[in-house]
Amino acid sequence: MCKSPKSESQMSVHAILPAPLSTLAQPGHFSLCASTPILADTGLEKEALLLSESLGLKMLSGAATDEPVIRLVLDEARSGELGKEGYHLDISAEGVVLTAATRTGIFRGGQSLRQCLPPLAGSNSDPVPAVTLLDKPRFAWRGCMLDVSRHFMPVPFIKKLLDQLAFYKLNTFHWHLTDDQGWRIEMKQYPRLTEVGSTRPRTLIGHNQTEPHRFNEEPHSGFYTQEEIREVVAYAAERHINIVPEIDMPGHMQAAIAAYPELGNVEGIQHPRCHWGICKNILNVKPETIRFMQNILEEVMDLFPGPYIHIGGDECVKDQWKESEEAQAKMRELGLASEEELQRWFLQQMKDCIEARGRRLIGWEEILEGGLAEGATVVSWRSMEKGIEAAQAGHDVVMAPQSHVYFDFYQCENSENEPLAIRGFTTLEDVYSFNPIPPELPASAHAHILGGQCQLWTEYMPTTSHVEYMLFPRLCAFAQTVWSPGEHELFADFQLRLNPHLKRLKDLSVNFREPEV
Ligand code: ACM
Repeated sequence: MCKSPKSESQMSVHAILPAPLSTLAQPGHFSLCASTPILADTGLEKEALLLSESLGLKMLSGAATDEPVIRLVLDEARSGELGKEGYHLDISAEGVVLTAATRTGIFRGGQSLRQCLPPLAGSNSDPVPAVTLLDKPRFAWRGCMLDVSRHFMPVPFIKKLLDQLAFYKLNTFHWHLTDDQGWRIEMKQYPRLTEVGSTRPRTLIGHNQTEPHRFNEEPHSGFYTQEEIREVVAYAAERHINIVPEIDMPGHMQAAIAAYPELGNVEGIQHPRCHWGICKNILNVKPETIRFMQNILEEVMDLFPGPYIHIGGDECVKDQWKESEEAQAKMRELGLASEEELQRWFLQQMKDCIEARGRRLIGWEEILEGGLAEGATVVSWRSMEKGIEAAQAGHDVVMAPQSHVYFDFYQCENSENEPLAIRGFTTLEDVYSFNPIPPELPASAHAHILGGQCQLWTEYMPTTSHVEYMLFPRLCAFAQTVWSPGEHELFADFQLRLNPHLKRLKDLSVNFREPEV
């Protein structure tokens, strides 16, 4: 358990969020100035450059000097102790020594150093109390999902978001690129996906459950070119964030079916969906459709180098398969007893394609229905129950339950003065109580819990500023639940830790909801 901030002189270390594994206050102070050099081991040039820019330093490296320096040290011999992302940060009157076994560890430690100092500290030489930190994450998967289908979010915003994720030591950005309401990624083989699928003619006003539906008659469109995707992937990689692209199938496909009607089961779908909620228009099971989707995955894998490819799999209402002679014939041909098994068969072919390229399939918990294929990773979202089941059956799991980490829910119980949200409420304290390893999970299955992920579904978030409002400060609480040790500090202590971050968010023009005190 970490201790509460006790005095002003300790505040800087207590401003590190998520809370580090261990901190030891030392005598003395370190003073940074604009000319403090960063001396980096070979291979750390990129990390040194980003750190120097974020601290507002003028020099990357310097001649030998008696002034304090910041040293970045790569020491592979410490990989047993520090792992892939851990670091050792020593701040003293003589300077700063940041040591890690990997470049990622150096980058993560750099965020802690930044947090000890004011933004663009180089222009401000307030002394920082000396301290030694040893830190590494509790979980390897610390994710944030953003839905850009319901509302398109431009590249500069994605980069700003990646900066924030990196600052709070998250390492996974799950990019929900396609859904019924819009296809947002350029596919060279299938240009109509963006020509037709990226624009819906109008958008629902108000809540989906408010009938009759009223619409704003403005078209909503937007997509990322492949060049932009590559740029974002590179930007994320510099910040040691992996991007997991999601192509949601076989449900959530109306935008694609509007572009290529031969993918669907019924006729007459002319444009992406204009309101929210689960949609019955799903892919058919023709061999050409399977090939089409595999071709898309091939193109996606060319763009995204990371180990995981997300194929969705959620909320696929099977009515159209029940009514389709073709789907029923396919089931008979394959000897399948249910439409759930047919979905499993469909996704198995996506899995084969993904695994042929040495990647791994990940999907929402519904991929368990009809039997989960070996080697697939499950995102447990309706609750933790399916995640528990999957982990016990030997599958890897990311916990992302609605109860704690769905940031499209209201942030307080009395939501009268809040902007429209989907439903329910998840307070900052609710998020803070998230534990990706539920107590009922036997210890033998713990290793299958890769970590946790927060979700931003954007039906009710039409602007980037609104996304930030729903994300902050809940993201800060979430970050602590997936990085810091399981026995983490009391919520009241976390609130103290959070305070300087609210000011920082303001300084960085990041919108957030003022937390209740
Ligand atoms: C989901 O919220 N449909 C994964």
